[in-house]
Amino acid sequence: MIRLIQITDLHIGQPGDNTFGVDVRMNFAEILQEAAKLKPDALILTGDLCFDLGDPQIYKWIRQQLNMYGIPFEVIPGNHDSVELMAAAFDKMQHFKDNELYFSWQSGTEEIIFLDTSSGVVSSKQLAWLKNKLSTKKGDFILFMHHPPILCGVPHMDSKYALRNRDDLQEILFEYRGKIHIYCGHYHVERTLYLHNLIVNITPSCFFQIDMNSEAFRIDHYRIAFRLIEMEGSGLLRQSLHYFDGSSLPKE
Ligand SMILES: [Fe+2]
Repeated sequence: MIRLIQITDLHIGQPGDNTFGVDVRMNFAEILQEAAKLKPDALILTGDLCFDLGDPQIYKWIRQQLNMYGIPFEVIPGNHDSVELMAAAFDKMQHFKDNELYFSWQSGTEEIIFLDTSSGVVSSKQLAWLKNKLSTKKGDFILFMHHPPILCGVPHMDSKYALRNRDDLQEILFEYRGKIHIYCGHYHVERTLYLHNLIVNITPSCFFQIDMNSEAFRIDHYRIAFRLIEMEGSGLLRQSLHYFDGSSLPKE
């Protein structure tokens, strides 16, 4: 059995940044403390670690928080990260190629795949790498990426911030003869979508959640969450979202 915890969209700012009045550092510290209690095999941080722009000091602070628990972790970038600074700060340079951070790892019989969508697309190099990987792969598997690979019925995000070359990625994923459990962030909502062989799970942010029904940007609420994912060797997959109040309710 492999037990993973996904944490996403931390949006940690510089000290003094106005992060909508939310204490994002306290939110991440709380999420981490609660996640550690479940003794996961690994923590997976799926992008937008930084509030706006990638910064070495912010990555250093996140790394220090992670180090307090000694739990193995993986990171992939979001559109508010610097891929190179992030790879360096988290000792992931072995995965860093052509300014991207994509890779896979094997845990027992499970191979887990991680894509880099920080540029708003999956690059042609990654698409070729993925296509090649899937050509020899069998069975259901887990894929982490910051952007969802499909439109999600969240007008504000779909219209402005969706993955741009999602058709190219979908073509490769739909060809695969097995289920693909995809775990994303980016949208700041809780939502699961099913399309052909894809199960697309969007995990809420550690910052705030947005209104799924509004075309304009509108905050829905300030509760935060992480996602627990457990996969048995038998192919059984269990998952649950764990919600917390968040550190502060901004004055509106
Ligand atoms: Fe994002």
